[in-house]
Amino acid sequence: MNFIAGAPKGDTLVRFVYEGELGGLKDAAKANNFSGRERELFVATEKKTRLIVAGLGKKDKFGTEKLRRAAAAAGQRARALDLAEISVDVPAGDRAENTQAAVEGIALALYEYKRFKSRNNKPLRLHTVRVDGDPDAVRRGEIYARATCLTRDLVNDPPSVCTPRYLADAAKRVAKKGVSVKVFDEKQIAKMKMGGVQGVAIGSTEPARFVHLQYRAPGARKTIAIVGKGITFDSGGLCLKPADGMLNMKDDMSGAGAVIGVFSALSELKPRVNVHGIFAATENMPGGSAYKTRDVLRAMNGKTMEIINTDAEGRLILADALSYASRLKPTEIIDLATLTGACVVALGPEISAIFTASDKIQKGLLAAAKSQGEKLWPLPLENEYLEMIKSDVADMKNSGGRWGGAITAALFLREFVDEGIPWAHLDIAGPALVESDRPYRPAGGTGVMVRTLLRYLEEQ
Ligand code: BES
Ligand code: MN
Ligand code: ZN
Repeated sequence: MNFIAGAPKGDTLVRFVYEGELGGLKDAAKANNFSGRERELFVATEKKTRLIVAGLGKKDKFGTEKLRRAAAAAGQRARALDLAEISVDVPAGDRAENTQAAVEGIALALYEYKRFKSRNNKPLRLHTVRVDGDPDAVRRGEIYARATCLTRDLVNDPPSVCTPRYLADAAKRVAKKGVSVKVFDEKQIAKMKMGGVQGVAIGSTEPARFVHLQYRAPGARKTIAIVGKGITFDSGGLCLKPADGMLNMKDDMSGAGAVIGVFSALSELKPRVNVHGIFAATENMPGGSAYKTRDVLRAMNGKTMEIINTDAEGRLILADALSYASRLKPTEIIDLATLTGACVVALGPEISAIFTASDKIQKGLLAAAKSQGEKLWPLPLENEYLEMIKSDVADMKNSGGRWGGAITAALFLREFVDEGIPWAHLDIAGPALVESDRPYRPAGGTGVMVRTLLRYLEEQ
């Protein structure tokens, strides 16, 4: 699908209207029981033009997310009508923001994962979307959506396809002008003394990989490290998950997938900030050589971790990834991980958690998320709970039990971020993969936080 900035052409025009502000469409709207509310849509013919009209709700309640959703509905209708070309009339207001949101809504809504469908019984005909808006914003919307869909693909790929080596290869493919990549194999991981990654990987026949992507912006003052969790399948290890808990655990690499998605866009977006993208990729399996409860692992920064539960594996590989990131001395670190079921219990499938002591990062990320229609909510780094992850034999244990599980996991991660480096942790366990369709997000991998991070980097 191509998005072209330019005046309307062809016979189909997508138009957005506010509730009660129907203008010349009044009669047609009435005939279609349409008043301009959110989620309302109708198709009419005016002279020789087919109109797809989508409601935005009340004008004084408008936000770009409403437009993104209305555009998604219009795009889906265009597909249902089997149209090849549409033109989109971007509503007035902040033209750049509105243009980008409309493009994102359409591009994201028409995403499909069809790799394993033997019969592509209805290929998408829609190939040209002409958008009457700012050309730069059209391009930006397309880049944001494409990056998100790359992450969706990686999350949707079956776990025996998307292995640690596959994820490392995907990272290699996004390295181009301005972006370099280093991939470390299992021997190099051992040499770097990444005991967390080694411990988790040892029960699997798939070798682990450690990936370091780097984007350099000429004249940048800041360097941001983005760290992702890359468990390509989480069986729980010897503390095996029950079947229903294991069902969607191919999504446990969504953090790493988001890192790859973000990096796929950087050479085109060219934000004025240096960025490191870092992830360890491994399976968590219960093979005969698997790590065991009461084992003690030593992370790259020298700290020791007593294994209480082999299913609390994400924090172990992130321990090494955060240690590695700290050594690079970035001005800040942001990690994102499908880390805890507790976070899903707390916030459900639509909301990611943010843990940080930095008001500045929090403010920036919340603003970026809001502008992209992604939901992010702060949870506390409560020091009182450090007690729960105290160990008698090691520096800490990898599980603090059920209560406050998302918080104790975040406190655990903090031990691997060098003091003085501002850090934020995003728990995306709920939204990374969803079971039901939403306006511009079909069920399956979502690519959550890719657009938020891109926006955040562009705002630096
Ligand atoms: N990958 C899971 C967390 C998860 C759960 C992600 C549900 C997405 C949906 C993580 O590795 C895990 O198993 N966490 C355990 C930790 C516990 C053993 C301390 C959990 O949350 O149950
Ligand atoms: Mn687990
Ligand atoms: Zn996991």
